Amino acid sequence: MLSLKNLSLEMEVEELKIPILHDINITFEAGKMYALTGPNGSGKSSLARVAMGIYPATGGQVIFEGKDITSLNITERARMGIGYAFQQPPRFKGMLVEDLLDLAMKEKNGPSCHVLHEIGLCPDEYRTRALDNSLSGGEMKRIEIATLLAMAPKVRIFDEPEAGIDLWSFRQLIEVIGSSHSADSITVVISHQEKILNMVDEIILMRDGTIEMRGSRDEIWPQIKESASCTCRQSCTLEDEQYAECPR
Ligand SMILES: Nc1ncnc2c1ncn2[C@@H]1O[C@H](COP(=O)(O)OP(=O)(O)O)[C@@H](O)[C@H]1O
Ligand SMILES: [Mg+2]
Repeated sequence: MLSLKNLSLEMEVEELKIPILHDINITFEAGKMYALTGPNGSGKSSLARVAMGIYPATGGQVIFEGKDITSLNITERARMGIGYAFQQPPRFKGMLVEDLLDLAMKEKNGPSCHVLHEIGLCPDEYRTRALDNSLSGGEMKRIEIATLLAMAPKVRIFDEPEAGIDLWSFRQLIEVIGSSHSADSITVVISHQEKILNMVDEIILMRDGTIEMRGSRDEIWPQIKESASCTCRQSCTLEDEQYAECPR
């Protein structure tokens, strides 16, 4: 179980403190899949970053499996089993795709490249590619997702996995995120896509750094359908004909 208790976040920009998250209270239970949705700038990625330890919380606590991990850094949290696939994955110059995947699978003693196949990249073509600017945004995004699949942490946070990904890969992606979820893991997918909102147990809607609504998919989806459609149009990078996939 992962709990955020009275969590707040302020960022300092040019000596001004900007409030980003306000008194967030939320519990993610093992075995459940969650969708975190809401307009651009509502704080979804920031919440994920605080959970992962990338941003230090300004107030409140992060509790994981009964332990207060608020003061732990990203490496310590990763060791405990929390993983985050960035909205915009970083590139690692000088590293190959297979190096990253092998690192991710370090303690699992198995071939790591099959995860590339799972997210629609041919292992033979991609495993020796450098993790640099020669990879397209969509390729990089899929490699980032493959890394989280290879790590198989207890808590998996996917930040807008659909961004920059073509429709065929998107379908495959949804399948693999769903099928790799296990009874003792927590999956949180930050997304605006109806297909993703459809496959989760709970939807959490954020607005202006707060949680505006949360509940089962059947309870929340009818209430947010219209506004989710607008958000999708604004932020989704799919081609025009692929907007047919967007919620209406
Ligand atoms: N490092 C940062 N410095 C300053 N402001 C930030 C930083 N990270 C996020 N923000 C601001 O926090 C707000 C929430 O951002 P974010 O969590 O990325 O939103 P979302 O993921 O919901 O689109 C935005 O107004 C964004 O500009
Ligand atoms: Mg974001």
